[in-house]
Amino acid sequence: MKLWGGRFEEGPSEVFERFGRSVHFDGRLIDCDIRGSQAFARALERVGILSAAEREQLVSALESIRVEARDPKFLAGVTDEDVHTVVIRLTKERAGPVADKIHTGRSRNEQVSLDIRLWLREEIDRASAYLAGLMNALLDCAAKYPDAVIPGYTHMRRAQAVLWPHYLLAYFEMFSRDFERLQQARGRVNVMPLGSGALAGSGFPFDREAIAKELGFVTEVGAAAVTNNSMDVSADRDFALDFLYAASTTMLHLSRLAEDWILYSSEEFGWLELGDGVTSGSSLMPQKKNPDSLELIRGKSGRVFGELTALFVTMKGLPTTYNRDMQEDKEPIFTAADQLCASLEMASVVIDSAKLNAAKPAAAAEESWVVATDLAEALARNGTPFHSAHQIVGRLVLDSVRSGKKPSDWDAASLVAFAPEFTPAMAALLTPSEGMKTREIRGGTGPRAVSAALITARARLVALTR
Ligand code: ARG
Repeated sequence: MKLWGGRFEEGPSEVFERFGRSVHFDGRLIDCDIRGSQAFARALERVGILSAAEREQLVSALESIRVEARDPKFLAGVTDEDVHTVVIRLTKERAGPVADKIHTGRSRNEQVSLDIRLWLREEIDRASAYLAGLMNALLDCAAKYPDAVIPGYTHMRRAQAVLWPHYLLAYFEMFSRDFERLQQARGRVNVMPLGSGALAGSGFPFDREAIAKELGFVTEVGAAAVTNNSMDVSADRDFALDFLYAASTTMLHLSRLAEDWILYSSEEFGWLELGDGVTSGSSLMPQKKNPDSLELIRGKSGRVFGELTALFVTMKGLPTTYNRDMQEDKEPIFTAADQLCASLEMASVVIDSAKLNAAKPAAAAEESWVVATDLAEALARNGTPFHSAHQIVGRLVLDSVRSGKKPSDWDAASLVAFAPEFTPAMAALLTPSEGMKTREIRGGTGPRAVSAALITARARLVALTR
């Protein structure tokens, strides 16, 4: 069955039919497509195109298809053009000729927009729930090691000591921005397009607000959210791009976390022990315990960025309004949503499984010169201009590197002997966890600042998921 054809003398070639078919992937939208058609049947009744009995016939035929379509094999072997066509064909088989009225004043252009919006809205909610779970896992991991000290890195060189919870809270911030981005994308997705027709607006006086409310397209204050311009609806995939961008930044953050943890769990670092359940062995080397779960997250991030790029490039240069190119929007969205949710779920499990061997990063901080900035700032606090303080500590580090001394090889007397600007009290700062106490600033790694940030983070997470 076709939803068009009167104007043609010959049917499409077998090759074109195969080439243009999308049902093998857009069949995923069948539940959304049917819910949209059920709401549309009610709208048709309200404008007098369907009687109550006809509407009932259509709605219940659609419902029977919807229920059966929960079986993943339901669409196996189907050769209709797309999901909309398959639903109409089946409706006709079940409800008879009244099904021919369902496309009155409706175009597939607005229908596909509606379907994707309904589908994305649910996927965004699913991803948001996984994301909140991941943020919770980060906070739990922070709570397990409240005092653990690690060297923080810039340029992959030991820079300054920070608390392990401070490091985890950095990711909490990234993911909370991702949560916001997903919600912003949801706001743009959650607008009802029906009534737009193919591009010019429907020729029937539908109560668009009523359709919107029926399908849950409402704002936070309960107002119906409907689109403003029919040409825009037919042309627009911004809402899908917004989702893909939100998915991409989330994957970017997951990928960087994965990279950190791959390093931190290596033999070279030895900070983290990942659970057996999230690591793999080697078929050849019996000793191996590989961080495959994290590597896969890092790998999948590239795919998701690819999907964003794919849709961006597909949309670029399309003349207003709908063009068939836009059928290529679906696989990027499906792939991105699948990989995003799977990666978020995996990352939470990895974090829950991990044990921090706190002595390792603490030793790494102690044997390096992560305390150098603390010393220079102490000199500056005591009146030495910072530039001179920087020079003095730089010379202290150079001297130590040459003579093979660690910070702990210095004491009050030797420091003061090295440079008169040092005071005996400054020797305390040779211990990494001491210097941190000077960083009691909002957003800093001071222990009290971090405790407060953890409490705030918990509250923010509860507020996000309410
Ligand atoms: N399968 C099509 C898509 O996803 C549906 C819209 C078809 N519209 C059209 N004018 N051919 O884009």
